[in-house]
Amino acid sequence: MERPDFLNHSAEHLNGNLKGKDILSVWQFDAQTLDHIFSWSLETAEIAKKGYKADFLSQKILANLFYEPSTRTSSSFTAAMERLGGSVISINEVKYSSVTKGEDLEDTVRTLEQYADVIVLRHPEMGSAAIAAEAVSIPLINAGDGVGEHPTQALLDYVTIRKEQGMLDGLAVTMLGDMKHGRTVHSLARLLSLYQVRLNYVSPEILRMPSTIIQELEAKGVQQSEHESLSEVLSDTDVLYVTRVQKERFEDTAVYESVKGLYVVTPETLRAGKESLTIMHPLPRVGEISKSVDSYTKNAAYFRQMENGLYVRMTLLAGVLGKLPA
Ligand code: CP
Repeated sequence: MERPDFLNHSAEHLNGNLKGKDILSVWQFDAQTLDHIFSWSLETAEIAKKGYKADFLSQKILANLFYEPSTRTSSSFTAAMERLGGSVISINEVKYSSVTKGEDLEDTVRTLEQYADVIVLRHPEMGSAAIAAEAVSIPLINAGDGVGEHPTQALLDYVTIRKEQGMLDGLAVTMLGDMKHGRTVHSLARLLSLYQVRLNYVSPEILRMPSTIIQELEAKGVQQSEHESLSEVLSDTDVLYVTRVQKERFEDTAVYESVKGLYVVTPETLRAGKESLTIMHPLPRVGEISKSVDSYTKNAAYFRQMENGLYVRMTLLAGVLGKLPA
């Protein structure tokens, strides 16, 4: 994969070995590394399901630094570290940290480097994870940098698609909702470009997938198409990846209000889809998938997707801290 412009040289190709590495972008992954992550995440799932703490990461400390709200990413990284025997320093929304006194990102992560072995960072600005990673010598994992990327989400999405559909090659994946601001779809589209997939982007005109990403994937020969109506592509879709319209990224609330309810997936919507259609969502949802879908089909995979996040994040923490085979 090509290195996106916003990344600096902290983002190295992993080539199957996560030890000591930063995880900043899906750009760092290849299909073989993803195979390893898939296999390892089946093993970490066994540890988590047994319900006890393993000791792989005893004596290790994670600093969980979140400048933006999170439920899943923050809690699953905490649970992942604790399931592997480590411990966690949690700084949520930085309200009670020295950031409110004006401390900048680099000094904040340099401080945490003195106390922790790995940092997980969520920050509102694109490229912030790469800047923070340059400032420290311990591994730093990007848990979402503004409208940039959310690589650990893309990895758990990849694991979920593989578990639900059995493979990736040959699939048609339709992404629905906010393509402009959705860092999960930016990362997932890039990651899926490693496979023979067809990508459909369904959004209103003002929330289209950034042209930089479309061009990046075009250059790799990925078949992509853009639509305003889900009905144009649903019947030929294998995975429907629904996203929330990201209210917090809009400067004008009236513009948000004009697009927020445009797509709502209901059991009726799904009647036009394949029986094997997998329905995913990075969550949180705010109305774009009706709750009646949850029990309508066993292929509503969004809660399993969230569960896979724990196993993938256990794998990543064990990997960057040198506890997985090379
Ligand atoms: N999917 C996701 O990133 O969820 P949170 O914002 O709750 O972490």
